[in-house]
Formats: sequence, structure tokens, C-alpha cells
Amino acid sequence: MRTIIEPFRIKSVEPIYFNTPEQREKILTEACYNPFLIHSKDVLIDLLTDSGTSAMSGAQWAGIMQGDESYAGSPSFYRFEAAVQGITNFKYIIPTHQGRASEKILFTVTGGKGKYFLSNTLFDTTRANIEYTGAIGIDLICEEGKHPTIPAPFKGNMDIPALEKKIIELGKENIPMVIMTITNNSGGGQPVSMQNIRECSIVCRKYKIPLFIDACRFAENSYFIKIREKGYENISVKKIAQEIFSYADGCTMSAKKDAFANIGGFLAMNDAILAQSCRNLLIITEGFPTYGGLAGRDLEAIAIGLEEVLDEHYLEYRIRSIEYLTEKLVAAGVPVMQPGGGHAVYLDAKQFLSHIPCDQYPGQALVGALYLHGGIRGVEIGSLMFGKYDEQGKLIPAMMELVRLAIPRRVYTQSHIDYVSEVIIEVFEKRNEIKGLKVIEEAPVLRHFTAKLVQVERLSASLLRG
Ligand code: F0G
Repeated sequence: MRTIIEPFRIKSVEPIYFNTPEQREKILTEACYNPFLIHSKDVLIDLLTDSGTSAMSGAQWAGIMQGDESYAGSPSFYRFEAAVQGITNFKYIIPTHQGRASEKILFTVTGGKGKYFLSNTLFDTTRANIEYTGAIGIDLICEEGKHPTIPAPFKGNMDIPALEKKIIELGKENIPMVIMTITNNSGGGQPVSMQNIRECSIVCRKYKIPLFIDACRFAENSYFIKIREKGYENISVKKIAQEIFSYADGCTMSAKKDAFANIGGFLAMNDAILAQSCRNLLIITEGFPTYGGLAGRDLEAIAIGLEEVLDEHYLEYRIRSIEYLTEKLVAAGVPVMQPGGGHAVYLDAKQFLSHIPCDQYPGQALVGALYLHGGIRGVEIGSLMFGKYDEQGKLIPAMMELVRLAIPRRVYTQSHIDYVSEVIIEVFEKRNEIKGLKVIEEAPVLRHFTAKLVQVERLSASLLRG
């Protein structure tokens, strides 16, 4: 088979600033081993996130110039609304400044103490917004999804028998909604099958619980269905996406992912009363319902991006570029989530650094090593992000210790990806030199964004001296 090429040419470029391992060591120590505290100009290849980091197309930039900034009734809103409805077919489309703003509004209206939200896996901001209302979020990922290095086609699937059991156990009246995250970001960017979405919706309808889709990466998930699920190979990705949404009652969306926008999101639903409550809150927190925290120009960029993302040449290249990196790492024996996800490669830090226990954050230690060695910035998705403390203050580790290397859309070329694989393989060869970390400062929620850490050995040495 011929090489699958990037289906774009580059019209505008940004420089990468080079630095040395010695400079990076200083930067990393000053950032207290937290990649969120490193300045982006000090990063060579930035794989921290695929969110808001896409390269926009010429058409999107042209759309930006056409944005109508009227406070109410802007034509940019109606173009945006039509683009979202064309894919989701939901009645009420509410623009927000990003995905978590949609979550904040939705869960403020539906959540509260004594309520449970069930999901395949909730993303960190989704869980935080649920828990902030006093409600509890519960993940019910399928068995295949719990084993990073064992391949399976739809590792993002919900465990349907477990879902029904939980609904019966907790009482349907205590479950405001079920949330299906596509693709499953916190579980490796793995897709959910159409069959699983259908079965989930049957269970939800049986108990009259609304099903919402966390749709950030709906196009990548739809493409996986096309190439992996029997019966969908000749159906367009757009039709697949429409079928997914037809099983749901609403969705939250971060347009910073599969809409190629640098900012934006929306909340969509069919329930008029729920939509009214959400809009009331939107007006207080985001803005008037025809702009909702965005400029008219952003609405234009999103509308155009939603069309572009369904281009199958793009999706073929997108999914292949992740698979390409995964294959190189697998060939070198690096423990990596298999198969590759839709937007990122996930290293299995538990296996990669088997000498570092979970309470010394192997994922975060690996993030530090990749930065130090090659200037690559990734993010830990493990016990720093999802770990909790028990009553004695002992860490209850996350289910998996992953390092996510998220690939921004349309930004890096194949040689950047080759460089990334070379750095990871070199770090893997020196893995025994990597040390564990200890948290010295943290926030009560979403601590990974701001936590400060030190190397365990270094801490004990200085403690000894003290
Ligand atoms: N849901 C999922 C599955 C996400 O991946 C994200 C963001 C959100 C909701 C929230 O959207 O950032 O627009 O407020 N994920 C980014 C990431 C931050 O790096 O994975 P947001």
C-alpha cells in the first residue's frame, strides 16, 4: 500500500525553538515536574493536548473574517446552528465557550447531592463538574478497556450488563443521565461501537434515563466504526455520525477537538424544558443564546470545521498517523495502548517504569523523562489525575497509569512523528534511570493542572540533610 499522505499543504508556519537537555533539566525542575507549568516556547513537540491546538484551514480563516458580531440574532449563529443540526439533528443548540462550560451548565441543572451519572469513562472536567454539584460519577468501561496492551476493536465500549445492574442498584430516579464519551479519552482514545451505543440507548430508554454523548471526538469515533464495524464499511462517516446521535437525547461538545477550532463548544438536546433551564443559566454565565461565550467569528470557524472533519481523506490520514506511531513503538517493545487511539498514543507507564510504584506517579515521571530527553510534552492520565486519598491519606491509585501523547490536528508532519518515536525508544532503553516523584503541593480538585512534585530520592536526600 502507498504511504497515506497529509491531505493538505502548508501555507503558514510557526517556528520551533530548540533547547538542550541541560536547559530542559532546569526548566523541568523549575516547573516542579508538572508539564502544565512549562512555557510552550520551551517545548519542541507539544503533545500535551489535541484541544484547541488544531491548524485551521484557509476556509476557516476566511470564515473568521465573515463573522458577524451582533449581540443577538447573528447570521454566524444560524450557520453554526445549521451545521450542528445537520450532524446531530438535535432541536436545541446552545453555544458555549468550550466543552466544560457545557458540562457546568448541564450538570448544574441536572446534578446535585444523591444523584449519579453513569458513563463508559468520564473525562476529568466532566467528572469534576458532576462532583462539584455533589453528585457522583461512575465509570462502567468494558473489560477489554481495562487492559492497555491487549488489542480489541472497541475498547471504549460501556459494560452494558454492569450499566443495567447499576441502574437497578441505585434507582433510576437517582440517575439524571448516562454519558457516553466518544472516543473514550481517559481510556486511551478508544472508540465505542455503534452496537454498544444502540444497546446503551435501549437500556436508557427502558428506564427512561436520557443518554447524552460527550461528542468531542465524534468524527474520529465514526471513522473507527466505518473501518472496524461490520455493515458500516460503505456508509459515509457523516451518516454514521448521524446514526450515533439518533440514539441519544443530547450531547456536550468541545469544538476545540473535532471541529478544528481554537476555542468553542456547545450543548445540544431535544428536551425543551431542559434547554430552557440551560439557556437561563447560559445567559448568566456565558452570554446570550445566539453567541454563548463566543465571538461570531468563532461560530463561523466551528461551522466550517464541522464540515471539514467529516472528510474521509482527512480521517484516514488522522487515524493512520496515530497507528503509525503506535506500530513503531510496538515494534521496539515499548508498552503502549493497543490499538492506537483516535487522537493520541498512550504509553503504559505501569509497565514502562515497573520499578516505580503507583504512589510515586510513574506516569508523571515518564512525562518528565520525555521532556528532558527530547523536549516532548505529554500528559499523565493516571494516579496524579484520577487518584484519590483514603481516610488515612493513602493514595487510592487510578485503574491505569498512562501517558498520553495527543497529536494536534493538521499540525505535525511525519518527520515530527518519527522524531517522537525515536525519543520514546531512547527513553525506554534508559528507563531504569528514571526516578519516582512525590507531590509537595496540590489543589483539592483537578490537582494535576497545578500540582508541584519533586523526585523522591532528591526529597529524601534533602530531608536527610535538613
Ligand atoms: N470531554 C472530553 C472527552 C474531553 O477530552 C474534554 C477536553 C472535555 C470534555 C472538555 O472540553 O477542554 O473544551 O472544556 N479535553 C482536553 C484534553 C482538555 O486535553 O483532552 P474543553
